[in-house]
Amino acid sequence: MCGITGYIGEQQATPVLLEGLKKLEYRGYDSAGIALQTGQGVVVCKEKGRIADLTKMVDLNVQSTAGIGHTRWATHGVPDRKNSHPHQSQSGRFTLVHNGVIENYLQLQRDYLQEVEMISDTDTEVIVQLIEKLSSEEVSTEAAFRKALTLLHGSYAIAMLDEQDPDTLYIAKNRSPLLVGVGADCRVVASDAMAMLQVTDQFIELHDEEMVLLRKDEVKIFTLGGERMERALYTAQLDQSDLEKGTYPHYMLKEMDEQPTVIRKIVDAYSNESGKLSIDSKVLQAFKGADRLYIIAAGTSYHAGLIGKQYFEKFAGIPVEVHISSEFGYNMPLLSKKPLFLFITQSGETADSRQVLVKVKALGYPTVTLTNVQGSTLSRESDHTLLLHAGPEIAVASTKAYVAQVAVLAICAYACGESDLELKKELSIAANAIQTVLDSKEDVRKVVEETLTDTRNAFFIGRNLDFYVSLEGALKLKEISYIQAEGFAGGELKHGTIALIEEGTPVFALATQRDVSPNIRGNVKEVTARGAKTSIFSIEGIQEEGDRFVLPHVHELLTPLVAVIPFQLISYYAALQRECDVDQPRNLAKSVTVE
Ligand code: AGP
Repeated sequence: MCGITGYIGEQQATPVLLEGLKKLEYRGYDSAGIALQTGQGVVVCKEKGRIADLTKMVDLNVQSTAGIGHTRWATHGVPDRKNSHPHQSQSGRFTLVHNGVIENYLQLQRDYLQEVEMISDTDTEVIVQLIEKLSSEEVSTEAAFRKALTLLHGSYAIAMLDEQDPDTLYIAKNRSPLLVGVGADCRVVASDAMAMLQVTDQFIELHDEEMVLLRKDEVKIFTLGGERMERALYTAQLDQSDLEKGTYPHYMLKEMDEQPTVIRKIVDAYSNESGKLSIDSKVLQAFKGADRLYIIAAGTSYHAGLIGKQYFEKFAGIPVEVHISSEFGYNMPLLSKKPLFLFITQSGETADSRQVLVKVKALGYPTVTLTNVQGSTLSRESDHTLLLHAGPEIAVASTKAYVAQVAVLAICAYACGESDLELKKELSIAANAIQTVLDSKEDVRKVVEETLTDTRNAFFIGRNLDFYVSLEGALKLKEISYIQAEGFAGGELKHGTIALIEEGTPVFALATQRDVSPNIRGNVKEVTARGAKTSIFSIEGIQEEGDRFVLPHVHELLTPLVAVIPFQLISYYAALQRECDVDQPRNLAKSVTVE
């Protein structure tokens, strides 16, 4: 949440900062701003709105080869100009951007800044005012910066300009992502490597509680205790073309269309030399050595985890508990004797999941992270990483990462057990089935026109694995079309929720599970009798006359891979119909780095 860019070098900073911010817009898009060192002072340009709005405002005649940029997801204070970053100290000497949450900002304000008139409602402004205050007591900006950092409690990625030191960017990181990049004639900083691929693919990881003095030809990393750290460069394995929409109107549509390819890539990546599905032997040992698996995740990743539980229990006989990461911290269950923690996170940055990782690591338990982003915080901090190989997912609504998570979970569970299933073949059938559903977009669009045009709510129901896919269908719909939607276990409806069914209420029912198909069809009859507009999504082999959509046949355990596709498409077309911003829905951000 919130994206940071910074540039110091030989070129004009403005285009690099703006281009970088465009790439980071997925992290937040409430407001945006840049600050430029001009030699005669620092110029700030910021406003509520998107990077496109900022770009129109920026004066390209301002000459500057050093600057910082920010795109915001509001935590403290409404999204308006006053609360937008960069923030400046009272005298205007220091200018700073921040991603994270400073938990003790009110205390710091009381202890150090009583005489300072705050302009914004943000926790960030306290940091920059504090640095100015300390600069009068310390021997250098470096010392004031370090002292201020030691007083902060919370998470931060920071980039700062000092008007009196135009040759340096002051950088710091704690529990919020931040990387330094090394270009031929510049040094850069960004929340995500993709923002700076335009100038370099060479990056340096920063660790928590580190600060950096960045000059155009120098990177000096220090601990907050003042110890100098040396760290090697790594090459970012990202392809610029993966980051572009190409001819697609939305990233979400592009990413949905990539799903068959993602499954095939995963099968390749997890095939060993003899062509068999397998996972890294150390990870395999970790799974096999556990008497219980604790899956920790949020949102869509949590829904994938629910499906993963069935895979590990059925394929490998390993008992599994699935927990919502934000709840786990306060309410840790009684753990088994040999637990293994599996974190599922597309971004690898989700703060709710990370706080659990920190806790269980402190207790000495082994950890595995299943993520799409190599080198992300959770990937670096857990004992093992399993990759999703889905390619960058830019749309806030997760689609291809979900399908990748389900596929990799199936492979891991399969590798841990001894099943007769020809999983490799079944995954390839599933990839083809996904393609068939994607080729039927027009049909799904009609479902949306028939059912969702005037509605204010919708229900998704299913049983067994279909229930978990229903949860995901409902999340997708509410997230991008703002239609209030709920996913329910078919059997639960009559225990309360059926009271909400009125004339015309849309109900989407999944019927892909043979054993419970008659039961879910019974639930459909119950809601139809009460006026609901029902659509059944069934699967070849158990379809019945009148089903609205019949999915191609796949192995029953792999139906979530295919059944989710019409639901993704429903949410996409519903969002289009309502003229919503598909890729950047209101109030959300792709990478949720605050708890
Ligand atoms: C899904 O469409 C959402 N954007 C959201 O629920 C997401 O899955 C959740 O925030 C978890 O993110 P992660 O997988 O990056 O940890």
